[in-house]
Amino acid sequence: MADAKKTAKLTFDGKEFELPILSPTCGPDVIDIRKLYSQADVFTYDPGFTSTASCDSTITFIDGDKGELLHRGYPIDQLAGKSHFLEVCYLLLYGELPSADQLEDFEARVTNHTMIHDQMQFLFRGFRRDAHPMAIMVGVVGAMSAFYHDSTDITDPWQREVATIRLIAKMPTIAAMAYKYTIGQPFVYPRNDLDYAANFLRMCFAVPAEDYEVNPILSRAMDRIFTLHADHEQNASTSTVRLASSSGANPFACIAAGIACLWGPAHGGANQACLEMLEEIGSVDRIPEFIARAKDKDDDYRLMGFGHRVYKNFDPRATVMKQSADEVLDLLGVENNPKLQVAKELERQALEDPYFAEKKLFPNVDFYSGIILEAMGFPTSMFTPIFALARTVGWISQWKEMIADPQNKIGRPRQLYVGEGPRDYVDVEDR
Ligand code: CMC
Repeated sequence: MADAKKTAKLTFDGKEFELPILSPTCGPDVIDIRKLYSQADVFTYDPGFTSTASCDSTITFIDGDKGELLHRGYPIDQLAGKSHFLEVCYLLLYGELPSADQLEDFEARVTNHTMIHDQMQFLFRGFRRDAHPMAIMVGVVGAMSAFYHDSTDITDPWQREVATIRLIAKMPTIAAMAYKYTIGQPFVYPRNDLDYAANFLRMCFAVPAEDYEVNPILSRAMDRIFTLHADHEQNASTSTVRLASSSGANPFACIAAGIACLWGPAHGGANQACLEMLEEIGSVDRIPEFIARAKDKDDDYRLMGFGHRVYKNFDPRATVMKQSADEVLDLLGVENNPKLQVAKELERQALEDPYFAEKKLFPNVDFYSGIILEAMGFPTSMFTPIFALARTVGWISQWKEMIADPQNKIGRPRQLYVGEGPRDYVDVEDR
């Protein structure tokens, strides 16, 4: 990776320092500043990590200018079109597409872990019925470390593998239970004769009084939503998982940290925020008012579902998601849905507006995923739990990669201190 011939020179305090350049397989070169502080007694300053690589990784590559997303080298549109979620999980976790036997074995291992410890239902019952499902997910996934002691020793590769399978297998069950609890319906147990996505839909929409037959178009769309959200390199929640696990914390605690981070509206909460925005706009004639607010420098209002930190051309996941949205909406016959009409017109007007073109703001994956999920019958509060369910495999793949890396050390960013200098304590009567 390091290219001995290439270095960058830094002149500081009258001295010159030579910094090695690392060359990745794809993407721009990287200046290695690991020894900068010890050699030059200076830090770098990069809030939001816009110019900082925090690790090396072989899992996912994004070229934001080209609108390219690769998992282990395979483009996301090919994976979303030809593969399916559990196969993509295998690819992310183990580095290669599985043979037919490997896939069968992996699917069987995941399927055999779909039930959760029966005692965990009492944890759910401790929450208020009006709790947000993400609040329940953070709590329940963190609590898995109290139920599965035999897979919390991160130094044991076998335990890491069991924790991996457990998390992927149980996340749909936990997300569906969080949903059922908040709508006051009994929990629906997993059925292992169904595939991953169909099983999740059934656990969300079946009731004991009447079974739920899963429509293959809907389960395919659900599977695609999972696939499109599976991993996205070092985004905020993945970096949170890596930072949490750098201290040696157990995998369930680390994934709970990732879920907490994902909840925010600038990250996983964006599809919920996007649907709420469409609801607030309400009708096509009010769109110009909201576009004007988004452009107003004195108003911090933003169009939810537009823009991306990395994609500055288009979001390749959004292209596939848009196709899925059309398929699902055709099936469910909801073309006259007012939110959808607002969404289509908002997209058209924003894309024609020079403000959005100049700032390279395009609809992102969350703009369409919310529309599909709503058409399927999910309330907006379930959008982020579904994202968390899908992203779990990305978090665990990155966690596994990090633990296996001999260079792994506790994450400890530095700071630019701008507070008071040293001063003497003043007794309360003298203040
Ligand atoms: N609406 C209006 N203006 C925007 C928007 C938007 N959605 N997004 C960015 N801008 C403007 C922003 O005001 C700034 O303008 P100026 O240069 O005049 O100050 C400029 O574009 C650059 O914005 P930024 O905040 O520096 O860009 P960023 O790369 O830090 O932010 C973002 C990326 C996703 C946080 C932001 O675009 C945003 O808040 N979008 C809405 C929330 C959203 O849809 N989030 C989901 C992201 S995709 C899911 C995922 O991968 O996690």
